[in-house]
Order: sequence, then structure tokens, then C-alpha cells
Amino acid sequence: MESYLRLGDQLRAAYDGASGVSIETGAARAVVFCGMGGSAAAGDLVSAAYADDVPVPLEIRRGYGLPAWVGRDTVVICLSYSGDTEETLSAYDEAASRGAHVVAISSGGELAARAARSGAPHLAVPGDAPQPRAALGSLTGAAIGALVSAGVLDEAGEQVEQALADLRGQLERLGFDVPTERDRSKQIASFVGSRIPVIWGSEGVSWPAAWRWKCAFNENAKIPAFASALPELNHHEVVGWTKGHADAFCLVVLREPGEHPSVQARLDATLPEIRAADVEVLEVRAEEGRSPLARGLELMLAGDVASAYHAIERGMDPAPIDAIARVKARLAEGR
Ligand code: PA5
Repeated sequence: MESYLRLGDQLRAAYDGASGVSIETGAARAVVFCGMGGSAAAGDLVSAAYADDVPVPLEIRRGYGLPAWVGRDTVVICLSYSGDTEETLSAYDEAASRGAHVVAISSGGELAARAARSGAPHLAVPGDAPQPRAALGSLTGAAIGALVSAGVLDEAGEQVEQALADLRGQLERLGFDVPTERDRSKQIASFVGSRIPVIWGSEGVSWPAAWRWKCAFNENAKIPAFASALPELNHHEVVGWTKGHADAFCLVVLREPGEHPSVQARLDATLPEIRAADVEVLEVRAEEGRSPLARGLELMLAGDVASAYHAIERGMDPAPIDAIARVKARLAEGR
């Protein structure tokens, strides 16, 4: 929980560190972020927040491989908090073997070692977060800094500072000693209660935030959770919201002022279907952020802290992720 509340400090320190590094990229035609889980969340957010500001596509890839178009004119930014995630290491090797401009972001691990061996830039983030997902500020700050250092994005220090200022109010209203009436995350935790949350976002930063919420409820609260996005969900999911599921599921809709103007009309047309199924709906708005970055962070932080409270209220520790360790151990046994 404490690490989530250090989001702002993490962001500033990592941005300052990364944006001062010189990264030679030539004329990059595309940027690909590679990462998994909590590290990928930073790539998701930065890709969505800066999509309208940079002249090249920003892509995010989760997995072992890379598409055929990745080559010498591509910047590949590999994000792994631990530096030891096998999918990200595989993507790193693939990018390096194709002569792409590879940048590594990690707290150390094998990714740092491979970058050192191949002379690729390594942007180190502090290794003091209890879990990768608690280092969102560091990973996001380093990813933005990497875009600046690579010459893809103009200097973003002012926007980072503005995002920190925008987050300040929210951070003051989070914490164990803040009463529930003032702390939106505690209210969200009790709204979810014993139900499975389905989180909706839309094009822009609310979609990466919705995915982050899903992952945070999985890992912190140890419950199933699902995310989907408007308008796509209007073409399938809406049919599935039928009577008989109201005790099992609840719906959280993430909104932000930068969303596409059609989202309100989509919701007006869609929510009657959800209400007819008696499913409870909670709207969570990013209210304070002046930029897509700030609004994305605001929404992500709300879900991170709500999912941690959800665990704590049930006497659980949000940090452990034993199932992930068991999957990794089984994979290792099979090799
Ligand atoms: O939140 C988590 O702990 C996971 O989702 C990890 O981020 C994921 O397993 C990848 O690990 P790393 O971020 O160290 O590359």
C-alpha cells in the first residue's frame, strides 16, 4: 500500500533519471514496448497517453516474439521490473538480433546484464518496491524518459510535474487514516464486496486503466476480475448481461474527460441492458488530471488502492502472488 502512495515520487525520479540519458536511435519509425503484467501496464499507459503527441506509432507487445516489421528503424523498449521475465527477455533478444534500437528498463536482473553485455542503454529503476505492480510510477517515468531520450517525444518534464500536482489531492485522500466518506478507494472496495468486478474503459487512457484494475483485483485481492472496452463490448459482451448474474458480478465504468465524445451516447444506449439484468453499476471518473497521463495515473491509482483495501478488509495480504510462482515452477520442471 505504501508503495502505491509513492507513485508521484517514483514518477518524478524515474523521469528525471531516464530523460537525461542519451539514446541513439537514428530516424525511428515506430516504438514497441515489450513487457508483461505490472511492467506492461506502464507501456500501456504511456502508449495511450502519448499516442496523439508523437509522429510514430507506439505499440505494446506482451509475449515472446515480435512482428515482422520490427527492425533497424524501430525502438524497442523492454520493461521488466525484476529483469528476469522470460517473455520479455525473449523479446529483447529477438529485437537485438534484428538490429532494432533496444532500450532496457528494469531494477536489475538478467535484462540489465544482457543490456550491459550488448552495450544497449539500461535505465535502472529502484528495486525497493514489494512487487512490480507497486513500481508503476518508476516504470512509467522511465518509459516516458526513454521516449524523450530517444528523440521520439519532446521534453515532458513540465507535464510530469503537472501530473504530480494533479495527483496530490487524490493521494491526500488515500490512506488507512482517511475516513471512508473521503476515500474513494475504500468505497470502491466495499462496492465490489463479494462480487466479481467487470471493469469497462474506452479508447484512450481509460482502457489501460481498466486492464490495470482487472490485474490489480486479481493480484492484490486474489479474486477473478475482467475488463473490456467500449465500443467493442457493444458487439458481444452486452448480450451476455442477462438476469441471474447480479449477485455474482458488478460493473465499474471508468470515465475521463479525454474519452471519445461517443462514449456518453454508447453508455446511455448500453446501461439500460445492464440495469435490466439488475447488475449494480459504479462510475469512477478521473476528475483532477489535466493531461491523459495524469488521468490515466489517477484511474490506475484508484484501482490499485481499492484492490489493496479489498484484500486488507478480508484479512489478506495484497502482496503475495503465489499462483504466479507455482506456474513458473511448473514451467521450469517441464524443461
Ligand atoms: O504484478 C506482478 O507482479 C506481475 O504482473 C509482474 O509484473 C509480471 O509477472 C512480470 O514481471 P516483471 O514485471 O518483473 O517483468
